[in-house]
Amino acid sequence: MLPKKIILDCDPGHDDAIALLLAHGNPDIELLAVTTVVGNQTLNKVTRNALSIARIANIHNVPFAAGCHRPLVRDIQTAPAIHGETGLDGVVLPEPALRLDARHAVDLIIDIIMENPPKSITLVPTAGLTNIALAARKSPHIVERVKEVVLMGGGYHTGNWSAVAEFNIMIDPEAAHIVFNEKWPLTMVGLDLTHQAQATPDVIDAISKIKTRPAQFVLDALQFYGERYRESQYFDYPPVHDPCAVAYVIDPTVMTTQKVPVNIELAGTLTTGMTVADFRFPPPKDCHTQVAIKLDQAKFWQLVINALKNIGETES
Ligand code: BDR
Ligand code: CA
Repeated sequence: MLPKKIILDCDPGHDDAIALLLAHGNPDIELLAVTTVVGNQTLNKVTRNALSIARIANIHNVPFAAGCHRPLVRDIQTAPAIHGETGLDGVVLPEPALRLDARHAVDLIIDIIMENPPKSITLVPTAGLTNIALAARKSPHIVERVKEVVLMGGGYHTGNWSAVAEFNIMIDPEAAHIVFNEKWPLTMVGLDLTHQAQATPDVIDAISKIKTRPAQFVLDALQFYGERYRESQYFDYPPVHDPCAVAYVIDPTVMTTQKVPVNIELAGTLTTGMTVADFRFPPPKDCHTQVAIKLDQAKFWQLVINALKNIGETES
């Protein structure tokens, strides 16, 4: 089977970093580009983090491009309580070796989709949806050319940035509204699913045995991220959200999904950014959205561990 071509749109971010390592280290994924967007921290910080991760993981021939520095309408909200002041606190980040692609992320996304055969590119956003929404507005014809959008964001039962809204959706709900309402096939890998992907002691133990620089980076990242999740959200073990979206692209059997219409609340006084999923009826024939429900945890962590093993040792 040919590898699946993806563009990872991210805001690293501890869990984005692991998503990037999973995409790079899995042989069934061809990583065509990494694009960044304001989210966990400012655009400059998350972009630098992405380039440093590239160095840690020996990623060379993949374009990295910086995208939007703020949401479409709202003020910037970042997440230092979870990811620290750098967006990737708790790890030592090397000076980047890669240079950024000169294009804006939105243009790089459009170019790649247009250069490749129709329905061959999967977009994997693991951050606010500002870049993806702008790409769809700037070049509407990309929508029918994209194979699917598999995003980490939202939740049909729970929120983390408000009682009902998840961070990636809530920081730019207007962008999310655009992305969820375009007619591309869209899989929402939301909190209902990602809260099942917790880095428990047995996972940490398995990663400790790999003993490479990228594996140590993941351990350091999970140490800091785990402490922050304990302190600020009362989790015993941290949910590692973003790699779940990449895992679904690699192997859809890693989770169960259900087709259901989903839309984004934009006008709520208490519910702005909620991903409203309508489970009342069988989905309409033209339903293009589905939500992730149940994770096969063992399979998921095995994918992450195998990817780290495949990356192997890198130069310091
Ligand atoms: C999402 O928010 C970010 O802080 C994480 O990187 C993840 O993408 C989880 O709500
Ligand atoms: Ca993220």
